[in-house]
Amino acid sequence: MLKDSIQSLMAQVNGIKANNAEELEALRIKYLSKKGEITALFNEFRNVPADQKRELGQMLNQLRQQTEERINELKEQFEAKQAEADKLDLTRTPDPIALGTRHPLSLVKEEIVDIFSRIGFTVAEGPEVEDDKHVYGMLNFAPEHPARDMQDTFFVEKEIGVQKPTDVLLRSHTSSVQTRVMTSQKPPIRVLCPGRVYRNEAISARAHCFFHQVEGLYIDKNVSFADLREALLYFSKEMFGAETKIRLRPSYFPFTEPSAEMDISCNICGGTGCSFCKGTGWVEILGCGMVDPNVLEACGIDSKEYSGYAFGMGVERITNLKYRVKDLRLFSENDVRFLKQFESC
Ligand code: PHE
Repeated sequence: MLKDSIQSLMAQVNGIKANNAEELEALRIKYLSKKGEITALFNEFRNVPADQKRELGQMLNQLRQQTEERINELKEQFEAKQAEADKLDLTRTPDPIALGTRHPLSLVKEEIVDIFSRIGFTVAEGPEVEDDKHVYGMLNFAPEHPARDMQDTFFVEKEIGVQKPTDVLLRSHTSSVQTRVMTSQKPPIRVLCPGRVYRNEAISARAHCFFHQVEGLYIDKNVSFADLREALLYFSKEMFGAETKIRLRPSYFPFTEPSAEMDISCNICGGTGCSFCKGTGWVEILGCGMVDPNVLEACGIDSKEYSGYAFGMGVERITNLKYRVKDLRLFSENDVRFLKQFESC
């Protein structure tokens, strides 16, 4: 009987395995502690008849020795692993520090600002929470112009929870900065107005309730539409490549007269027509025009002495053209998998 027990334990012990030091200690207790299975066999040994003592004694000793050896062997392996993990090599070259990336909208905005700064434009900024006067009134919007309608403009409640007619609103374009500059500076004026704007639109891949614009304003004596065209042609070539062509289509804005929308030759197909430009070879990138004399007068600038041009573009739109970002929501979700792609820009 005792012989069978010894043999079966011997088979078990040879295959002892443990995943960590705790498991190994549990095994040592199981076999070798005072109440362990091998110790129990030694207790049984006392009752073994004298003629079997020699053989069984030897077997028992061998079992205990093998168990101890196996456990020690495993213990040494764990200790060696731990020592390796604890080892600090202070001379090792450090891993490169993961640098943050620039937001694509910031990259594009800065590129636009940089291009215009080379022809004398400086940056002007203004508040995002604005009044009706600077966003619409001084820009020749009629009092009932639909752009003010709740569908487009976010109005700010003066008292929380109380909806009263209010003239405080979130700016819907950065032309408001232009009115602020015109009322506080004397011509010549040559400013760029980058910033965030808000419109009450349902959020989708193609529209968002906020986006970014860069608008430009140049006022001086004898500023002409040809000056506007030259400045925009220069910008388009710098931004999209020397082969880029532009075309101006008549349009309407309350604050410019005449007004135009500008297309560039599609920078994907080069103007031959593709799905991006819907086969036309052209893509629209901005609105522009000659500042309406009414706007100049409303801002205290003599429209007989001065004239000027203005233009405005969406930064998201330009970014889409440069980097093919098709879903506007990516710009504000801050998903690092998206942002990291601009690491090398
Ligand atoms: N403010 C216009 C817009 O938000 C853009 C624009 C600016 C058009 C200046 C003409 C001149 O759509």
